[in-house]
Amino acid sequence: MASAVERFDDKASETFESVGRTTVYRGELLRHPVYSRALHWMVALFFFLALFSGFGIYLPWLFRWFTPIFGGGQLLRAMHPWFGLGFVVFFGLQALNWLQPMIWTPADSNWMRNMKKIVSSEEKMEAPDTGFFNAGQKVQFWEIVGGCTAYLITGIILWVGAPTFGRILVAISYVIHDISALIMLGGIFIHIYESTFGQPGTFQSMTRGAVSEAWAWTFHPAWYKQMTGRDPVQACEEARRQMTTGNKP
Ligand code: HEM
Repeated sequence: MASAVERFDDKASETFESVGRTTVYRGELLRHPVYSRALHWMVALFFFLALFSGFGIYLPWLFRWFTPIFGGGQLLRAMHPWFGLGFVVFFGLQALNWLQPMIWTPADSNWMRNMKKIVSSEEKMEAPDTGFFNAGQKVQFWEIVGGCTAYLITGIILWVGAPTFGRILVAISYVIHDISALIMLGGIFIHIYESTFGQPGTFQSMTRGAVSEAWAWTFHPAWYKQMTGRDPVQACEEARRQMTTGNKP
């Protein structure tokens, strides 16, 4: 089963790489290939479509101004479950794509214990054992996996409705559906901040697919070591020395 999933993922990755392109310049590392990037942006697109159409249903008096973009209230209601389904399907594929690097390790438990220092940027570099994704990213990933499961179950109950599932189950589903949306929305604000201003150089990993080596040794030192075989602290010090001596090696 696991190898069938891997085979599917590898095949999709190969197909996307043959139609898209990732250029990795000197001093850079490949971070996200075309397939991962395409999935991520489809996830983001359907997330926001589902979110905005959901707001239109949940708070119509407040969000009346954008209902016409979706062709009016009725169409917005009809389209919301399809946007949600699109989000869950694309995130499901992304989850298969990232399953391996998202597995929790002892390094992640350490990261969580030192979270205060990391978030307040007391340490300039992440802990040396921080791999491809850090624990914060993994927590968010697994929260989205949980959220998608909740959306799918409660969404189907709401879609099919009370005649089949009964009024109590529909009422409970409303509450779970909306709480999941609010939790995910809060997480996405943090995610967008961290992926742009919070950790400069991260955004290009989802546009061009490549990151600078300096970014890698700063934010994901263990991944840098795995990719280059070099010690991240030494690499950083060397780069610093080169800068102070006017780029002379
Ligand atoms: C316009 C908004 C968004 C931006 C600018 C953005 C940017 C990024 C970037 C740059 C990465 C790569 C991080 C890395 O390689 O370390 C990433 C990863 C990821 N994105 Fe987004 N993203 C956005 C929206 C979303 C949405 C809506 C979701 C899901 C609901 C999402 C889920 C994820 C997940 C699970 C990851 C992997 C773990 C992580 O980096 O947190 N993203 N995103």
